[in-house]
Amino acid sequence: MDTGVKKTGLRFYIRTFGCQMNVRDSEIISGLLTAESWQLTTNLGEADIIIFNTCSVRRHAEDKVWSEIGKLKKIQNSPIIGLVGCMAQAYKEKVFERSSRVDFVVGPNDIHKIPEIIKKVACQNMFVRKVWETNTRIRPEEIYHKGFYENREHAYVIISEGCSNFCSYCVVPYVRGELKTRPHNSILREIEEAIARGITKITLLGQNVNAYEDNGVNFIKLIELVNSIKGLKEFSFITSHPQDTTLDLFKAMRDLEKLKKYLHLPVQSGSNRILNLMRRGYTREFYLDLVNNYRKMVKDGVLSTDIIVGFPTEKEEEFQDSYNLVKEIRFNASYIFKYSPRPYTEAEKFPDDVSREEKERRHRIILELQKEISLGKK
Ligand code: SAH
Ligand code: SF4
Ligand code: F3S
Repeated sequence: MDTGVKKTGLRFYIRTFGCQMNVRDSEIISGLLTAESWQLTTNLGEADIIIFNTCSVRRHAEDKVWSEIGKLKKIQNSPIIGLVGCMAQAYKEKVFERSSRVDFVVGPNDIHKIPEIIKKVACQNMFVRKVWETNTRIRPEEIYHKGFYENREHAYVIISEGCSNFCSYCVVPYVRGELKTRPHNSILREIEEAIARGITKITLLGQNVNAYEDNGVNFIKLIELVNSIKGLKEFSFITSHPQDTTLDLFKAMRDLEKLKKYLHLPVQSGSNRILNLMRRGYTREFYLDLVNNYRKMVKDGVLSTDIIVGFPTEKEEEFQDSYNLVKEIRFNASYIFKYSPRPYTEAEKFPDDVSREEKERRHRIILELQKEISLGKK
């Protein structure tokens, strides 16, 4: 099949959905493609290749991707369309059943193969609509060293990929694989390379940064090493799982002068029964105690959280437990999500028995509360 795409000077457009990890992955993909002398464009209409780097974490995130792909019907030329990232891994061949516009599908651990795939489909006319790759377990380290950053001052640096926590509602371990930590030397080198390009601020990324371990270097040791990098002005990290968050971390946050005093500590629910069903591995009391220590040890520390409302079987009084927890802790910010069942997960088999209207009501109520807290009214 002739794709109508010229063989040199390809222009690619990339659209990112989901978390910061995906923002960084899109930079990595852009770095790989510009290394082939292809050109990044922000004009969808002139692109030869369109890449959607997708997210599967909630139903809503996926709906957005399908709707954006649907809108491509209006584009005059016929660009090659790739669906990559977490939805690619979750749906594989099924992507083609859902959309006749998608040409290739590549999972998050295989993004390093995208240039080769594009060469095959666009340049050599070896065109077949297919799932190219979704089987790699560990990404090659060199993809982190392509030096492509969207921002001039700030860079995201991935320290670990995947997650082995298997919270009952969460698709991440299935689409990103189990936890894999990057070698600390390579991480430090990546930061030094970024600094050489003018970057002064870094955010370290992992689904559960506190579980980091590489040859005797744990997360605390890693942030000490990062803190001592010359030319770095400030850095932070996301996300911390309460179960793996220790007082040592708070000490480091107190003492490391370049580390921002910002902690994102998702609680998910204020009810012990729901936390247990979510397989979070801690209780409300444990969480409160942790926050208490954080506030005592890290003066002026900023604290934010994630909460899921309408988890299967969540009763009104259990929702109130979450509400009261937010009220008691007075987070600087809370991100509230309506539960949606995700493929492969344990909770997918639970009854999704809180109605959409009720989820919306619970969502609105905590959002409103957080707004008042943030405005200092509560
Ligand atoms: N690794 C991070 C979060 C990754 S996902 C952590 O453990 O905290 C980001 C947020 O999406 C989660 O904290 C959770 O609040 C929300 N989330 C994940 N799966 C969800 C689902 N099935 N329905 C609704 N919200 C979900
Ligand atoms: Fe998902 Fe839980 Fe892992 Fe976070 S810790 S990515 S919520 S499984
Ligand atoms: Fe979404 Fe994948 Fe991130 S599911 S939240 S893009 S790890």
